[in-house]
Parts: sequence; structure tokens; C-alpha cells
Amino acid sequence: MLHLTVMTSFSWAAASRPIISLAPMAGVTDASYRQLIKRIAPEVMVYSEFLSTDALRYGAKKTLRMMHFDPLLERPFIVQIFGKKPEHFVEAAKVVEQMGADGIDINMGCPAARVVSSSHGSALMKNPELAAELVASTASAVSIPVSVKTRLGWDSSENLIPFCEKLIAAGASALAVHGRTFMQKFHGEADYEPIYELKRRVQVPVIGNGDIRSGADAVAKLGNLDGVMIGRATFGNPWVMREIVDALLHGKTVPSTMTFAEKIPFIIQHCRFAVEQKGERRGMLEMRRHLASYVKGIPGAAELRAKLVRVESVAAVEDILGSIPL
Ligand SMILES: Cc1cc2nc3c(=O)[nH]c(=O)nc-3n(C[C@H](O)[C@H](O)[C@H](O)COP(=O)(O)O)c2cc1C
Repeated sequence: MLHLTVMTSFSWAAASRPIISLAPMAGVTDASYRQLIKRIAPEVMVYSEFLSTDALRYGAKKTLRMMHFDPLLERPFIVQIFGKKPEHFVEAAKVVEQMGADGIDINMGCPAARVVSSSHGSALMKNPELAAELVASTASAVSIPVSVKTRLGWDSSENLIPFCEKLIAAGASALAVHGRTFMQKFHGEADYEPIYELKRRVQVPVIGNGDIRSGADAVAKLGNLDGVMIGRATFGNPWVMREIVDALLHGKTVPSTMTFAEKIPFIIQHCRFAVEQKGERRGMLEMRRHLASYVKGIPGAAELRAKLVRVESVAAVEDILGSIPL
């Protein structure tokens, strides 16, 4: 793992369109997951899991480790941060910039009770003054661009445009919007109409997020937006990112026809990345649920899953997957 300070010149305005990004997902989009996605679809922009500004500010080792990335493979690399204290954002942003990230994204959409009760994440949609102050503090501390990921609003989309205009005036250079409100959490269908309307009203890049599960979905939802962001559809199926890239960039909308045998080398590579970054014990422990998702739907999945959730080494995974009659 390299920890270089690399000067980058990423700019949201110059990023090639449409932007296709992997959503930040705590507990999922660690370096091994991002690197796997980049191997499958190098065109994809990746975000870190959300990192606490309080922890970064105090130099918490675990949080600093979560920012490790491969500066050659993972470009552009956006680090997402959360918190509520402007002075902590200033210090955290400097740490993120020094680690060589291409951009800083501020989380204003997480609906988790623990996050919202601390006035972080989605709670900021109810406090636009503080939200704007966090953007301004962060942007003044670093030279890399600052973006925001948010939701439609607290309980409706009626304040989305004024809220985002305030963030832009404070220095946000791009916005990613999940088409649900805080109140909806993950229920219902993502609504893209308010995001399209936002794009008509602002000059900065706007990325739409929510419920994109295939290349055809991505094409249907892109509309007037600058890009799309995909999260849960990659669980057990990181190859969907290739399908989405092919659909949006190359007009190829046929669903991927990859066989399980063709997927195995990627699955093994995912395990290797995890072990490289977290050591064999921790890496394989964290890989178990990914492995269970990879075999979902293939013949004998239940039996395979029972074996895969116990694996302790890459070699064991190779043996189990190698024994599947394909
Ligand atoms: C397990 C999990 C963890 C998530 N963690 C984050 C996070 O750290 N930061 C963030 O902005 N959103 C987070 N999200 C929300 C996603 O980035 C995304 O907005 C949401 O899943 C909707 O997109 P999708 O329908 O493509 O999954 C998380 C979602 C899931 C399922």
C-alpha cells in the first residue's frame, strides 16, 4: 500500500461525461471493493466509505487506515467525510488532501439513527446554515474540490433547490442526490424528477442516485444529469458496473452474459486485495459475506454458501470455487 502525497488536478467540471460512480457505502466500499470495481470498469469514479471528521482530526489510526487507496488504480478517488463541527472539517480536509485524494465529499444524506441523532448526515438538511458553513470551511482549507452527497430533503423535496443553491454558494463544486427523503430511508422507489429539476437550475455537475440496477436503468435515469451513482446493485454483482459503463458510454444495452466461470478470477482477485489490505484473518473474515453474495442464484448455492462463510484463506476459496462443476 502506498501512502504518497500526490498532487492531483481533478476537477468536476472537466470530468468526462457521463460520470459513472460507485456510491460510498460504509462497511462495503473499502479499498479492496473499490479496486475490484476499477479492475472491472476502470471508467468508474470511486468514493471511500464515510469517515468521521472527529476521528480524522484526532488522527484515529483505524479511520486513517480506511483512507488508504491505490494511487495508481483508484483515480479519481473521492473521500467522503461526515461530522458537524466546522473546525474539525478544516483539519480533516487537510489530512485527506495530504493523503492524495482527488476530492472531498461531505455526507449530508446518511439516515442512520446514530448519525442523525448526533446532528450529522441527513440532519444537516434541517440545518442549511451549518451545512453551508461546513462546505465553506472545508473548501477554504484545501485546494481539491469539495462536493456534497445528499437526499431529496427531510420529508419532501420542496427545499432541495434552495438547499443546494446555498451549498454551491458556499463552495460545493458538485452534488450527488439520492432520490429519496430522509423519512423514506430506503423505502419506495427513488424519484429522479426533483434531481432533473435541480440540474435545470444549477450550474455545477449533478449526479443522480438510487435504484439503478442495470445498464438499461442507467440509460433510462440519466436524463439531463451529469452522471449516475450506483450502490446496492453491485452487491454480489460488481460486473453490473461494466454493463452500466458499456450502456452509457458505448450504447450497448444488452445485459451482461458473463458466466460464473468467467467471474471466478475476479472473485479470487477480490479476496487477494482484501488479504493484502487487511491481513489474512481480517481480510477473509470480511470477504465471507461478499462470497455468499457471489454464489447467490447459482446451482447448489446454499451448500456453497455454508462452506464459503467459514473460509480462512484465499486457497480455500480457490478450492471451493474450483470444485463447482461448471
Ligand atoms: C450498506 C450501505 C452503506 C452506505 N453507506 C453510505 C455512506 O457511507 N455514505 C453515503 O453517502 N451513503 C451511504 N449509503 C447510501 C448509498 O451511497 C446510496 O445513496 C444508496 O444505497 C442508494 O443507492 P442504490 O439504490 O444504488 O443503492 C450506504 C448504503 C448502503 C446500502
